[in-house]
Amino acid sequence: MCYTGRRREGCVIKFYITTPIYYPSDRLHIGHAYTTVAADALARFHRLCGHDTFFLTGTDEHGQKIQRKAAAAGKEPQEFVDEIVAGIVKLWERLRISYDDFIRTTEPRHKAVVQRVFQRLYDRGDIYKAAYEGWYCADCEAFYTETQVAGFPEGKCPDHDRPVERLREESYFFRLSKYADRLLHHIEEHPEFIQPASRRNEMVNFIRQGLEDLCVSRTTFDWGVPVPFDDKHVVYVWVDALTNYISAIGYLAGDPALRERFDRYWPADVHLVGKEIVRFHAVIWPILLMALELPLPGRVFGHGWLVLESGKMSKARGNVVDPHVLCDRYGVDAVRYFLLREIPFGADGFYSEDAMLTRYNADLANDLGNLLSRSTAMIERFCDGAVPEPVAAEDDGVLRALAAEVAEAFTGHMERLELSDALAAIMRLVGRANKYIDETAPWELNRDAGRAERLASVMYSLMEAQRIVAVMLTPFMPAAPERFWYQLGLDGDVRAQRWPAAARWGQLPAGTRVRRGEPVFPRIETAKIGVEER
Ligand code: ME8
Ligand code: MG
Repeated sequence: MCYTGRRREGCVIKFYITTPIYYPSDRLHIGHAYTTVAADALARFHRLCGHDTFFLTGTDEHGQKIQRKAAAAGKEPQEFVDEIVAGIVKLWERLRISYDDFIRTTEPRHKAVVQRVFQRLYDRGDIYKAAYEGWYCADCEAFYTETQVAGFPEGKCPDHDRPVERLREESYFFRLSKYADRLLHHIEEHPEFIQPASRRNEMVNFIRQGLEDLCVSRTTFDWGVPVPFDDKHVVYVWVDALTNYISAIGYLAGDPALRERFDRYWPADVHLVGKEIVRFHAVIWPILLMALELPLPGRVFGHGWLVLESGKMSKARGNVVDPHVLCDRYGVDAVRYFLLREIPFGADGFYSEDAMLTRYNADLANDLGNLLSRSTAMIERFCDGAVPEPVAAEDDGVLRALAAEVAEAFTGHMERLELSDALAAIMRLVGRANKYIDETAPWELNRDAGRAERLASVMYSLMEAQRIVAVMLTPFMPAAPERFWYQLGLDGDVRAQRWPAAARWGQLPAGTRVRRGEPVFPRIETAKIGVEER
């Protein structure tokens, strides 16, 4: 049973995964790329498994922060976000993000659903009008209580290092407090709902301290979705934003074909988010869903931050690394590999270009790239360019056994969202295969006619292990596995393989002619890009 997907009637597993929808307040940096690449790897893995997969990303375009940014740039908000969103779409193309839909909160299909949701909550008595007085951080787009702000150093938002603002306005409120016990109960019954476990504990403590009703409308600016029955107010941007996860797949859509999409994919299997917004996804969002009488998502996974020596990489702080620059230098496959391999998924991780370069040369150029070029060269020299038929009596089973173990570990890690461990497992097989070459010394076997069968078995094992490696790399790397596949002599699209069937040993046909080519990851000498300070 696949732990991450839900089995529908029959035996097709569906898998619905989302990223946060990003603020188009500025160009995105590798922190945003990190989440999106991770979600893409998971979506590609589930497609590889033959699951009915839906992958959603998009942009969160309303709110005070965006309106201010647009004004500062001397533009209308829509014009301002259109330009930035165009750049985001280009970035995702470059990183080969295989999303099934891209939702923008300024689209009519989304705004209509936000209004219907707001109306529903009002009609059932979960939204009421009152006066709001308190604090606000426009960078978080979040309200803070007196007690919270008292704990902030110099009254500044700790995430953004900027002063919070005093608000005093008439607002609509959502009855968050009414659902606190139900939410706690759900979290207890579903330990996998909030991950990793450390974030679950934080959330449980937060809810136990007591939830206050949430202010869900604003009147002092107008860049938002109007409250349907009171157009002095715009819907609070987080309620607007969270609704994307259901509006994009057709919740309350006019078109019945779209509503079918909703029945097919809801509830989401994974909401992937950065740790600073777990609270919105693990408290506000499930309570909104409860009030709408909708089932709750399977998992909210809060991953860690990419940090620089100057602190968390963030648009507000202005210390960012541009993913395009990294892709120019190392290529998309290597950037994706680095992001997902370097940082244990869930923890914070330091970003440095030295680390990028080291990973590139050690893992990709040396281990992975050399394995392919050494082994195809030996096939050419010792086996006339064709993968030989193995001989059972001469097969030591070393790589076969490890490939089976790694394939199983890889599957488990992907299901548990342990992306870095999944890559480490693949690289364990790669490393062992390189060592196997040194141990078996095919060049010596080749000198001795009596050892031809041993040579054949050794070479077959090496090539077969790489076939399985190429398939396991497809969720992570959009281009290199195809090149591997081609050089191994295999035809067709490696992405058309099915997992775990492709892991079965012995599928590489003897007689396959290798096609030796350029190194897939040529070595890169030292480079320093540095951090862009804006
Ligand atoms: O919060 N390290 O949008 P946002 C790791 N619009 N991940 C990072 C990161 C870093 N240094 N910086 C950003 C919003 N991220 C809301 C979301 S969802 C209904 C609304 C990633 O543009 C990470 O996923 O501030 C983080 O949660 C997200 O970008 C925040 O993007
Ligand atoms: Mg942010």
